[in-house]
Amino acid sequence: MPTDNSSAARKTRLRQIAIEWLGGPSECRVLDTFAGSGFMRSACYGDCKAYLGIDIKDTGTPGQLIGDNRVLAPAHADHFNLFDCDAYNNPWILCDDILQQRTKKGRIVMVTTCNAIRLLMGVSPGYHWRKLGLSELIKFRQANTKKGAFPILRWHDDFIRIVLTDWRSLGFDIGRCIRTISARSGVGHKVRYYAVELFKL
Ligand SMILES: C[S@@+](CC[C@H](N)C(=O)[O-])C[C@H]1O[C@@H](n2cnc3c(N)ncnc32)[C@H](O)[C@@H]1O
Repeated sequence: MPTDNSSAARKTRLRQIAIEWLGGPSECRVLDTFAGSGFMRSACYGDCKAYLGIDIKDTGTPGQLIGDNRVLAPAHADHFNLFDCDAYNNPWILCDDILQQRTKKGRIVMVTTCNAIRLLMGVSPGYHWRKLGLSELIKFRQANTKKGAFPILRWHDDFIRIVLTDWRSLGFDIGRCIRTISARSGVGHKVRYYAVELFKL
């Protein structure tokens, strides 16, 4: 079973930095798209100006929206400036969908995660291969080996760079980015967390 908070101290620190980038809690309006039982709210976002949690499960947390973030989060893109995407997996499509819906100008921060082993195993959708421009290579590799696994980790940093370049094409300047905080999930997966400062132009 995955662990929701395998590395609470590092995850908390990353969010404190994100809050500082936005000018402190009084400037932060947080959309917590994988809110769980509200751990991040209590640990990091308690003093923030606004907070809305979303989770697909009913965790019994007061005020939390119950539903699929793929539907709910993009619809709220203009009402918040800190988007917390603390998935088990790789929420890059969700990040894209939120950014595509954002029309309001100015600074925002995207806090997200990357489960590298799932990228490595090819568990993540074709989105990642397409982003890397490797779709044909992947198909060739899958057709010629018993297992479909492909060493995408070799291109991990390139993948992140390509994602950020894509965010530029959605009308954002990229500011500060922290990428090196990593941890191990409950099943031994290496998970990296990112905070990226963006400016909607
Ligand atoms: C890694 S945990 C998040 C933990 C939480 N941020 C915390 O600090 O306790 C992932 C959470 O995302 C929720 N989830 C998974 N898919 C979702 C979706 N499509 N929409 C909304 N929530 C989802 C799960 O129910 C789970 O609570």
